[in-house]
Amino acid sequence: MGRYDFDAVIDRHGTGSLKYDCAARRGKSPDLLPLWVADMDFPTAPAVVQAIKDRADQGIFGYTEPDDAYVAALRGWFGRRYDFWPEASWLTVTPGVVFALAQAVRAFSAPGDAVLIQPPVYYPFSEVVEDNGRRLVEAPLAYDASAHTYAIDFDAFERTVAERRPKIFLLCNPHNPAGRVWSADELRRLGTICNAHGVLVVSDEIHADFARPGFAHTVYATLGAAFRDNCLVCTAATKSFNLAGLQASNIFIPNPQLKERFDAAVAQAGYSQPNCLGLVATRAAYEQGEEWLEELKAYLDGNYRFMVDFLARRAPQLAVVPLESTYLVWVDCRALGLDDAGLTELVEGKAKLWLDMGYVFGEAGRGFIRFNIACPRSVLARALDQLTAAL
Ligand SMILES: Cc1ncc(COP(=O)(O)O)c(C=O)c1O
Repeated sequence: MGRYDFDAVIDRHGTGSLKYDCAARRGKSPDLLPLWVADMDFPTAPAVVQAIKDRADQGIFGYTEPDDAYVAALRGWFGRRYDFWPEASWLTVTPGVVFALAQAVRAFSAPGDAVLIQPPVYYPFSEVVEDNGRRLVEAPLAYDASAHTYAIDFDAFERTVAERRPKIFLLCNPHNPAGRVWSADELRRLGTICNAHGVLVVSDEIHADFARPGFAHTVYATLGAAFRDNCLVCTAATKSFNLAGLQASNIFIPNPQLKERFDAAVAQAGYSQPNCLGLVATRAAYEQGEEWLEELKAYLDGNYRFMVDFLARRAPQLAVVPLESTYLVWVDCRALGLDDAGLTELVEGKAKLWLDMGYVFGEAGRGFIRFNIACPRSVLARALDQLTAAL
């Protein structure tokens, strides 16, 4: 037993929670057990709660900017963990990583320009492209249907870049939902192609901290000067510490010309000072939350192994794609031979679960489901029980 209790089931209903309170609004039945959107059913690190309480005690929540101590906390975290030492001049705080992706699309491409993604991928990637009138270009990951693993088809990637001439590549590093931690070598190969063709790399690293034992996250900007000067690195403490509602993410742009253009787009959106409690929470998390995070990761690892073992015994026709990072488990259900409606009926109608259905991640996700396993093990067990009973 560790210092923190991840087994406690906490009722989140009545908090306006997107996961628990918004089923009807999203056309779902309220009796579904939700394991979809990527937030966790655990309270954040106690040090973060304390820092927010201390700040709340002052009672003044005026306009706030990231200060030197904030930047030092970020430098400490990324330097210690990833040998990435961001400077104050590289930082722009935005209210979310998706907001930053959208601003990057607006800053570095024009309507009608192409933007590249690697599906199946976190669905806001395609939304920020299409919602801004840009053309979506896809270089799908290669799926090995017998090993149930994903890889990058570098030849296809390069061909797509050369033929479709995207202005921007939205990189999911690590990849949600494929669960891959990209190695430095894989990132360098992707980056070399992008640099050669003048494609800006926007690296979404929001799940960086979740690399499982045996896997190491590489911050894209650490690959070398040529890569650092042609990228945006999008980070946040919000996934790692369950702070999504506090809306603070840290975008690092080492190249001053790129930073200026990005900041102009952010200003154009009418955004200036960040959420003051988001800053307080992020700083506390990065200064005092590491031990909590490591214990959380051990618990999540246990959840993952529990799930793999459970499905192997009770539903061997479902194939779990190996998880290298994130707490989002991607499951290949194609052996069931169901179409979208049939799989949705199985998951929602029969198993009474609210999961993310694979097809929302693009054509390549068809026949898959995505499980958020950041919940008490008893809840995960109930969900898996409901699913296998429905089968
Ligand atoms: C890859 C990825 N990027 C971004 C986000 C959301 O980030 P934010 O809430 O900061 O917009 C998520 C949330 O699930 C995600 O999985």
